[in-house]
Amino acid sequence: MLVTTTEMFKKSMEEKFAIGAFNINNMEIIQGIVDAAKEAKSPVILEASSSAIKFARINYLTKMVEAAVEENPEIPIALHLDHGPDFETCKMCVDAGFTSVMFDGSKYDFEENVQKTKEVVEYAHSKGVVVEAELGKLAGIEDDVKVESNDAIYTDPEQAREFVERTGCDSLAIAIGTSHGAYKFKGEAKLRFDILAKVKELIPNTPIVLHGASTVVPELLAMCNKYGADIPGAKGVPDEILREASTSGVSKINVDTDLRLAMTGGIRKVFIEEPSAFDPRKYLGEGRNLVKETVYHKMTNVFGSANKI
Ligand code: G3H
Ligand code: 13P
Ligand code: ZN
Repeated sequence: MLVTTTEMFKKSMEEKFAIGAFNINNMEIIQGIVDAAKEAKSPVILEASSSAIKFARINYLTKMVEAAVEENPEIPIALHLDHGPDFETCKMCVDAGFTSVMFDGSKYDFEENVQKTKEVVEYAHSKGVVVEAELGKLAGIEDDVKVESNDAIYTDPEQAREFVERTGCDSLAIAIGTSHGAYKFKGEAKLRFDILAKVKELIPNTPIVLHGASTVVPELLAMCNKYGADIPGAKGVPDEILREASTSGVSKINVDTDLRLAMTGGIRKVFIEEPSAFDPRKYLGEGRNLVKETVYHKMTNVFGSANKI
């Protein structure tokens, strides 16, 4: 069933688990994710970035998701815009049938972020669509080195409270030490759970979102590298930390990098092990299998969303 995130987030806050939001770019990724959700009996968020929309084209994405929903009437599926850069992109997705949009105003100063988020909230709500907003900046690995002396990149819990109150956003992405991509930590992986706890204390009814939360699954990374990739020293958020986040008030966990590694690992494996293979169904199929396995593991063993439909 195509739904907004309202009910799934409510349940996640009541029962202390998180829902995976997985980035979609093509049919095989969508199928891998949804097949995993079906098997795990888990609610799921399919999210598309504006570059994914440019690549796959919005009609193809919405129609493929429509097919996934039709095939899985028992699974709550939300279609979400990831990192909407401006009002127009958010509006385009609302009008195209997305049930949730993110407006990412984190690059603006506080007041401008409030104003621009409000505009999106007003339009989206008038069409029954929910809005995720972001406050605080996700650290890059270089920023992370100076993190102790630079508390400013983390979300300020007091500001988060004011932001939610003034914008009316439905969920909030916060910065507690994660970052996008395959290189999140140089040393030990660490998140600021103290900030998360304070945020939850001040805005207990607002679902909290964690971006940049891929594990950079060691087995997938090793597979990519074994079959010819060169991705040295990559490091993500370990499963134990994501498990803790899932039971400590995070309602939505964003995953893109792990799916990229899964697709790439599967495709590379076929190319190297079977040099004579040139049927796209063979190598894309292997990628799809690995996407499914990866998502299923997260739902059942990490986020706790299995059997929560
Ligand atoms: O947070 C960003 C996501 O990983 C999407 O990345 O803009 O390359 O599709 P993308
Ligand atoms: P990762 O790069 O850690 O997969 O994060 C994805 C994300 O936050 C999408 O918005
Ligand atoms: Zn993100």
